[in-house]
Amino acid sequence: MTQVTNEKMDQVLGFIDSISQKPYVDSYLIAVLHKVQQLYGYLPQDVMDIVAEKMQIPTAHIWGVATFYHYFNLSPIGKHTLSVCMGTACYVKGAEKILETLKKELKIEVGQTTEDKLFTLQEARCLGACGIAPVLMVDDKIYGELDAKKTVEIINQYRKAAGK
Ligand code: FES
Repeated sequence: MTQVTNEKMDQVLGFIDSISQKPYVDSYLIAVLHKVQQLYGYLPQDVMDIVAEKMQIPTAHIWGVATFYHYFNLSPIGKHTLSVCMGTACYVKGAEKILETLKKELKIEVGQTTEDKLFTLQEARCLGACGIAPVLMVDDKIYGELDAKKTVEIINQYRKAAGK
């Protein structure tokens, strides 16, 4: 059994112990994955190896479940999450262009995090602000009526605030 030392890992293992029904079914596994993501922000490989051992579930099965549900982050997320709305209203008003601008400016693809760990890029469905499409959400703040120039300005504001 892997030697577990850190506090977060103890919480994960305690959570698994609290699940009484065995053998574990996928709904319990999903609850455990949520717990891991809540504690770490994503699903670290070494933690998932320990979870697999503890729950006696093949690691490949765990990754299969984790990748099926888009909710789970498989790599560390940045300080700021950029969610580009790809809903119909935003798409019609040029969301694709906003997304391309961000990919180029940040040199990452959707689902990735910048090297400096400042931004993670995601796509979103309608963010409920169709009136000001196209829309970008940074963490929980909405920016609307965007074009490529405004999008880069927003990114630069966050870079400046982070001293980059
Ligand atoms: S479609 Fe983008 S906010 Fe509604």
